Amino acid sequence: METWWAVVYSLCALCMAWLWSWWKKPHPKFPPGPRGLPIVGIAPFLGSEPQITFKKLGEKYGPVMSVRMGMKDIVVLNTYEVINQAYVKQASEFSGRQDLFVYTQVTQDYGITFKDYSDEFRRQKNFGMQALKRHGMSNKEMEKRILRESKFLIEKLRRQAGSPINIVPLLYQFSGNVVASIVLGKRFEDNDPTFLLLLKTLKILFADKKVADSIMMMMLFQNLRYVPPFSTTNQTIKEQLQILSDIFQQFVDDRNANFKETDVNNFMDAFINEKLNGAGKSDSSFSDQQLVVFARDIFAAATEAVSCSIGWAIICLLHYPKYKKVLMKEISECLGRDGQPSLSSKDQLPKTCAFLQEVSRFRILAPMVHHKTTSDAVLYEYLIPKGTQV
Ligand code: HEM
Repeated sequence: METWWAVVYSLCALCMAWLWSWWKKPHPKFPPGPRGLPIVGIAPFLGSEPQITFKKLGEKYGPVMSVRMGMKDIVVLNTYEVINQAYVKQASEFSGRQDLFVYTQVTQDYGITFKDYSDEFRRQKNFGMQALKRHGMSNKEMEKRILRESKFLIEKLRRQAGSPINIVPLLYQFSGNVVASIVLGKRFEDNDPTFLLLLKTLKILFADKKVADSIMMMMLFQNLRYVPPFSTTNQTIKEQLQILSDIFQQFVDDRNANFKETDVNNFMDAFINEKLNGAGKSDSSFSDQQLVVFARDIFAAATEAVSCSIGWAIICLLHYPKYKKVLMKEISECLGRDGQPSLSSKDQLPKTCAFLQEVSRFRILAPMVHHKTTSDAVLYEYLIPKGTQV
């Protein structure tokens, strides 16, 4: 009987110790916040729009708070001021990246979107920003490319006027071609099989709610990737990422074969030029493998962000026809019926600009970014240990 009691006491002590280690914060000065339930944390209470749940929790716990997600402590920044203080003013402490294995399992630490913060990341990002600006992302140049592609989009819409239409593929083709002109220096015909495959892959990876929900769960509980139905989703993601990488490998091979130092007019050529004639002579991060993933990252990030932004604007106008009339009046007074919009008209289109800003506030494309601290960081009165997800 005594042995029996000894076993019961030991089990209770173990449970208490486990609960204590689960309850305890990573540091006495760690930001306050809810712990939720053992093992799952607050994951079951996040709802379908976690950013709104976080904002409500922020009213109770303050602008810098923490939540337990699964077994992990995550810091949440809830106001503009605190986000600016961390990501801008203390950028080097807050620019680390969590390893999002769902994406990195195929492309490891190459590219830019899922690459951890390091000197190499900074060199690649600085190069990327300059190359994009030089080869299409300056205001004037971007405007030209957008106007050229808009003509094709408007023509397609006119042809189907009066009948129901699924506008999503058209928006993907529009934004995909604007971005392709900058990254690859070319545009694709609508029926180009490579272009269709590219856009289909993006849609599966980023526009499917079931896939997005599974990714969120697998990021919280990594071992789920071995359990159906998550294992099936993970396999789909791996296959689609591989398809994207194979397509971009073909583009890189093609640009390498046709590279002319005297004719550098897009991101890929700029990278190859840097690899052969610039920093790449001494910096091995300028490799073909890096270019495949870097170009893929830019193409995916930009195509998805731009097509979604326009898509949400259209949905809002459909739901609020009253405002559609107001905007149409403002636009036709400023540009005339067939005039071309230009950034220089912005000042004469205050309602249109306000509407677009409101759309991006109302339907945030990336409500949560996954950074981590690169060293112990002090934010206001709190201490956030190295490696914490923010
Ligand atoms: C409505 C438009 C857009 C929105 C709302 C948007 C939003 C974002 C957000 C929230 C991030 C994550 C930032 C972070 O983790 O700190 C990001 C990263 C990124 N975006 Fe965009 N983006 C847009 C358009 C574009 C365009 C047009 C391009 C390229 C031409 C682009 C390329 C990238 C790249 C390469 C990254 C990863 C690099 C990095 O985080 O430093 N995005 N974007």
